[in-house]
Amino acid sequence: MTASSFPIQMPDDSSLPKAEMGEAVQLGRNLVLNTQKFAKAYVGNGLNCSSCHLNGGTVAGAAPFVGLWGVFPEYRSRTAAMGSLQARINDCFQRSMNGKALPHDSVEMNAMLSYIWWLSKDVPTGMSLNGRGFKPVKSDQAPDLAHGLKVYAEKCASCHGDKGEGQQLPDGGYLFPALWGDRSFNIGAGMARLNNAAAFVKANMPLGQGGTLSDQEAVDVAAFFTTQKRPDYAEKSKDWSKGGKPKDARY
Ligand code: HEC
Ligand code: HEC
Repeated sequence: MTASSFPIQMPDDSSLPKAEMGEAVQLGRNLVLNTQKFAKAYVGNGLNCSSCHLNGGTVAGAAPFVGLWGVFPEYRSRTAAMGSLQARINDCFQRSMNGKALPHDSVEMNAMLSYIWWLSKDVPTGMSLNGRGFKPVKSDQAPDLAHGLKVYAEKCASCHGDKGEGQQLPDGGYLFPALWGDRSFNIGAGMARLNNAAAFVKANMPLGQGGTLSDQEAVDVAAFFTTQKRPDYAEKSKDWSKGGKPKDARY
């Protein structure tokens, strides 16, 4: 199979490894689906990994985890270094989850690695799948924030709230995650960048109706919510120390 035909999906549970390895994979899946509960001490907002990596990282165009086992370590311009999969996971803990890095050899880190290994077990080493990351949105118009606010009010606020605060469950978790404010991702997160946010939204939002916004609507609504107030990222001055800073970085 080629990178373009490889299916991005959750493997059948019948293929779970036996014994300790199988337990680690299942803990890893729980950590990704319910990070609030399983990695509470490391999370600083109301999100789960799967708030963005939809269905536990098994959706093409929603930054899937399928196939990642065989493409790390990888050079990353943001850190200007070769980075391990552990370091990449911790990037999301510190930025997307506005939290703390996990020890590289912790039970939780090994469980998430085991889960990503299981998702990737049929993908040849080194194959970067089509459907990895997000599918870029093309727009030649400058983002229109006023129009973005209108799209937000009409198509997003019913779930994500008038003030982007999301909708909380009685147990403290979120039915609908926050898009800005102190329970959301910080300014160092990939989702705080216009192009990532527009691409994610175009393909996946409103939830269940991905692909229904025009490219311009996706760009405008992304420009609107990514520029609302959110937590700062203290380490931001270290990013892109050797250049390559993208135009849509927030700092
Ligand atoms: C607010 C949204 C959001 C949340 C929550 C989030 N991430 Fe991410 N994650 C991203 C974005 C954006 C990227 C960058 C995708 C790209 O490079 O195209 C990313 C990339 C990644 C990658 C690398 C993907 C690749 O193709 O190289 C991994 C691994 C990852 N995240 C793990 C996690 C884990 C584990 C969690 C939970 C602890 C998490 N993320 C939470 C948005 C998020
Ligand atoms: C029907 C409810 C619903 C609507 C409407 C909706 N979303 Fe979402 N959205 C969700 C849910 C639920 C998730 C988390 C997915 C998960 O956990 O499986 C999510 C996740 C997100 C995320 C990533 C997580 C975060 O909090 O940062 C972004 C960004 C987002 N939505 C933007 C939008 C935008 C922009 C719109 C309007 C165009 C929109 N959504 C409309 C339900 C909705």
